[in-house]
Amino acid sequence: MGRVGLVLAVALAKHGYEVVGIDPDKRVTEMLGRGEAPFYEPNLKEYLAAVSQKKTFTATRHASANSKSDITYIAVGTPTRPGGTIDLTYVEQAAKMIGRSLRVAHQHQLVVIKSTVTPGTARTIVKTIIEDESKKKPGVDFSLCSNPEFLREGHAIHDTEIPDRIIIGSDDPAAIDKLERFYEDFHGEKLPSVVRTSFENAELTKYANNAFLATKVSFINCIANIAERVPHADVESIAAGIGLDERIGSKFLNAGLGWGGSCFPKDLGALLSFSKRLGYGAELVAATVETNKKQAQKAVRFAKLALGSLASKRVSVLGLAFKPDTDDMREAVSIPVIKGLLKQHAIVTVWDPKAMENAHRIFGKTVRYATSASDCLEKADCCIVATEWSEFRKLRPSTFREKMRRPRVIDGRRLYDADEFRAAGIHLVAIGLGPNKTYARSFDTVR
Ligand code: UGA
Repeated sequence: MGRVGLVLAVALAKHGYEVVGIDPDKRVTEMLGRGEAPFYEPNLKEYLAAVSQKKTFTATRHASANSKSDITYIAVGTPTRPGGTIDLTYVEQAAKMIGRSLRVAHQHQLVVIKSTVTPGTARTIVKTIIEDESKKKPGVDFSLCSNPEFLREGHAIHDTEIPDRIIIGSDDPAAIDKLERFYEDFHGEKLPSVVRTSFENAELTKYANNAFLATKVSFINCIANIAERVPHADVESIAAGIGLDERIGSKFLNAGLGWGGSCFPKDLGALLSFSKRLGYGAELVAATVETNKKQAQKAVRFAKLALGSLASKRVSVLGLAFKPDTDDMREAVSIPVIKGLLKQHAIVTVWDPKAMENAHRIFGKTVRYATSASDCLEKADCCIVATEWSEFRKLRPSTFREKMRRPRVIDGRRLYDADEFRAAGIHLVAIGLGPNKTYARSFDTVR
């Protein structure tokens, strides 16, 4: 019942399917039993309330609760082991649990792997475990599909209900047919393209997808770093320009302090170590990761350039979540930024609309926790914007001027109009903005 499984569960239950969510964590099942969401995701609370009322969704810790199901999804986490390889422990445990529950099942069951797993996992690990544990025959008593998810945090319900495409991998065409029919029923007229393929292609498609997106972001950050050294250049204009090329497309070209989250860092690391084990260095993926590591540290460098020494300087960090509309701080860029500031003995105050509880767990007493964005700016010598929450976008130059001791802003997510802020007397440094940019933004728009 994590971020993938729970969202899928409530989306299916809202549609009218009878869904049981299984999770070993008592805290999670108890919260779900009360209709409470164990994490923040837009509309999740409302969906949970609706499916609790409809009685189409229940949560339990009982491992065999799926024995009467037609379809069982595996949506457990696949964390990273030290060294970057994938840890399949939870997938193996889930496969064992499903195998045991199938011993008492009387109907055929379709098992669907949603978890992100390296190529070969479905065929050589999951299928074998289920077969051994259940003593039943694949293709007869149960069948298996690999069906990776592409949902984004913050848009998870939307992406589950209206996906761009559906990838179904299996060695059993009847299993693919069954899952395709299920999605025809679920999505109705909104059914997107369905790609029918092998287990391994489906598994690798997921990694290729995330690696491509992360590469796009690292690429534009690389161009941003060049643009910063060119008078009058601005990466935003360059991104808009190349984005109009249909072969490139405008999405995922927002330059900033880099990518984070529970997926890109983990999946690119797993893809790299998987590829290296096969004897290929995947240098492009390695460069994407390396570019990203350096990008976050730019915020600390910019702060040092603006303030000289950071020792005893008050720095406020706006935005802690790895992206807006989530409370998730896993691998968030804000973490290396704040650690870098603390290492230089800065006094750090932080604010995020949703991630304060998670921030407490990470930073403990090492930082001050503000009660709002404007409280965070109070008497600060410098402010770093690390996440593009819409409430930060609305902040006007007057707020920075009134609240801060010295109005110095490092726009790590390109939220502000540099001309407007500079005209208001704010020292503004922005990712990808060349020095001495004097022309007005209106000359620089795409018509
Ligand atoms: C990502 C993928 O977009 C999903 O398709 C995939 O299903 C998911 O991983 C997963 O594997 O589970 P997510 O991690 O929720 O989704 O977040 P994204 O919206 O992709 O953003 C990832 C990071 O890239 C964020 O830190 C974001 O700030 C950064 N980013 C994104 C940029 O810096 N610039 C951009 O233009 C876009």
